[in-house]
Order: sequence, then C-alpha cells, then structure tokens
Amino acid sequence: MRERSRFTMVGLPVLVFLWTIKGAFPAHSHWKPTWPSYRVPVIVPQLTVNLDKPQFDAEAKLEVVSPCGPSCHKSSPLPTYEEVKDYLSYETLYSNGSRTETEVGIYIITGGSTGAQGRSRRKRQIYGYDTRFSIFGKDFLLNYPFSTSVKLSTGCTGTLVAEKHVLTAAHCIHDGKSYVKGAKKLRVGFLRPRLKDGIKGANVSSSPDPHKMKFQWIRVKRTHVPKGWIKGNANDIGMDYDYALLELKKPHKRKFMKIGVSPTAKQLPGGRIHFSGYDNDRPGNLVYRFCDVRDETYDLLYQQCDAQPGASGSGVYVRMWKRQNNKWERKIIGIFSGHQWVDTNGSPQDFNVAVRITPLKYAQICYWITGNYQHCRDG
Ligand SMILES: *[C@@H]1O[C@H](CO)[C@@H](O)[C@H](O)[C@H]1NC(C)=O
Ligand SMILES: *[C@@H]1O[C@H](CO)[C@@H](O)[C@H](O)[C@H]1NC(C)=O
Repeated sequence: MRERSRFTMVGLPVLVFLWTIKGAFPAHSHWKPTWPSYRVPVIVPQLTVNLDKPQFDAEAKLEVVSPCGPSCHKSSPLPTYEEVKDYLSYETLYSNGSRTETEVGIYIITGGSTGAQGRSRRKRQIYGYDTRFSIFGKDFLLNYPFSTSVKLSTGCTGTLVAEKHVLTAAHCIHDGKSYVKGAKKLRVGFLRPRLKDGIKGANVSSSPDPHKMKFQWIRVKRTHVPKGWIKGNANDIGMDYDYALLELKKPHKRKFMKIGVSPTAKQLPGGRIHFSGYDNDRPGNLVYRFCDVRDETYDLLYQQCDAQPGASGSGVYVRMWKRQNNKWERKIIGIFSGHQWVDTNGSPQDFNVAVRITPLKYAQICYWITGNYQHCRDG
C-alpha cells in the first residue's frame, strides 16, 4: 500500500532541488535518450472563491515580448514557498462567464528514496540550420503527432493533451490584466478534410492542396490560467507562467500527446526541441520546425526556432525512450511563448522562449486534467 506516504511542506529551495533524476545515463555508445523519472510534488486545491464576471476587454496579442533575457532570469532571486503557492493558484473561467479563483497547497510525499543526480556529461551535438516545414496532405495532417496541433479561435495554437484538454499559452486568453475579447466564446479548431465541396467523384486522398482541409470547431467549457501569469503581466516572472489549460465541451476523439516534466537541455536528444503551429504568415498551414536549445533557466528554454506569432501556445515536444514501457514516446515538455529581445553588451539578440513544464507545473496541469493527484505522481 502506498498510503503510508506522508505529506510534508517544504520550502522552495527543496522543491527546486527535487529536480532530481532517478534514471542514470549509461555512457555506452549505444546510448538512447531516455525519459528521466521525476518525483513530482503534489498540488491540490485548498480554497475556491467566486470572482466577478470578467470584462473580456483586452486585445489578443499573439506574442509576448519581454526584455528580461537568460542572464536577467538567472539572476532573479528564487521565489519563496508562499510566492510559488501564489503563482500556482489559478483562475477558472467557465463558458457561462462565471469565474473562480482557487488557492492551492503544495506538498512533497516523503517515503521514497532521493535519487542520485544523474547529470549527463555528453557534449552537445551541433546540428545544422533551423527550418520550418509546412505540413501538407491529409495523410500527415490527420496523423500523429501533427494531428495533436489545434488552432484557437483567438489566433494561437494549442496541443491535445488528454481526451478533452488542450494546452496553450496563457497570453492567448488573458493579457495579464484582463481576459481577451475572444476568450468569452473560445473555440478550438480541428483540421478536417473538406469532404463536400471537393470536385465530385474525385479522389482527394493524396492531394497536397491544403485548401482541401477546413477547421471544425469545438467550444471550450472552461479555462485554467495560473495566477503567476495574471499577477506577472508578462514581466520577467510572468513569462514563466505563460500557460493555460482548456477543457472542451466534448471529447475530440483524436490521439493526444502526454505532458512530461522537461529534462534539462543536455538531456534532450540532440539538444533539440520540436513544435508545430499555425504561424500567421502561412494562413491555414500547419508549420513544423525543430531547433537547438541555446540556453535554459529553471522555467524557460531559449531557442532560435523560426516562428511567427500564431505559433504561440504550441506544445514543444521531444521523443525519448520510455524504459518502463519499452518504447519511444513523444511528450510535451514546454509551451512556445514568444519572443525576447536580449541586449547582451550592446548587441541585441533575439530568442524565442518556451515555458518549461517543471515538476510543479506538471503537478498542476496534471491535476487540472485528471482531478486526482494520485494520477500525477510520475512526471
Ligand atoms: C456557471 O457554470 C459553473 C460550472 O458549471 C457553475 O458552477 C456556475 O454556477 C454557473 N454560473 C452561472 C451564473 O450560471
Ligand atoms: C479512388 O481511389 C480508389 C482507392 O484508393 C481507387 O480504387 C479508385 O480507382 C480511385 N478513383 C479515381 C477516380 O481515381
């Protein structure tokens, strides 16, 4: 029985160092990038109160711009336990316009062994240039993993992470002060083949024409946004919490991609991440890309993937070996947030930023999806 586990409150420094890795990396040449297993803390709601109906008066901005770069983030002080509890508290918006705020408690279940720090010491391999690929043809668009990318009616991208849930960026719904206009009747669009008005009798199966596809929309029933985003308003801490979870009114009936705790950049296969989104400059196209991670903080991954604003909210994924299941598995380890201009010694550099799924965020998003922390123990 697992019930002998105890709940213990811990301070944040302990939470940060719970970023421990139980799986060690063998140094053999036939090394397979393997999903580390993380000890995930428990996040449970403690108190939910009703708030006023929101105004929905913000303009949807598809991109977040922050002047705080990697060194700025790295030098900002660690939040206290109370602050983290506050950032991970969240607002829920219902399709009938009502809104609640939920305070959470954060616990560590003790009783397990504290894993060894299995830091990989492999050199990062250098790959070539960054490229984007438009994905054409229903054979690709309707198949995993591309079929998990969906479009939000506010213009962003989201990813299917459960039977009824879509992960996206918070800024697609809320500008940090207020909900955006389109959040009131938020819908999620699924690319489907356009069956009726094709040429009669013709086969569309192998057609590369993206105009043969159209979006079919499902309404969103409720939306969760962490308070870390609402308080931060896209400043340096705000970007760390630029994620939101949408619950659809009905199941989408497609395969979805699980979320996972983000490994460190060095542990990623080739030091690389992947994501697909509905970039504005290629309307109606799903655009796929991959690129190297250049830098990271506890909460963010910095990369120079080419991306246009509509791609924000895309799930950033990697494919690694899942030892327990004895197979390769893709998981979403972050959410593409936007752009940062970083002034390094007078020469502005530009980065794209993805919010990492940390053990705490994993616990929170998983609880939002399942409503049961017991299902959220293995990140
Ligand atoms: C809106 O929906 C939520 C969840 O279904 C419910 O708890 C709440 O009472 C509803 N509010 C109104 C004003 O109907
Ligand atoms: C349409 O596709 C089917 C099976 O893929 C094939 O048997 C048939 O000949 C095709 N028809 C035309 C008009 O190309």
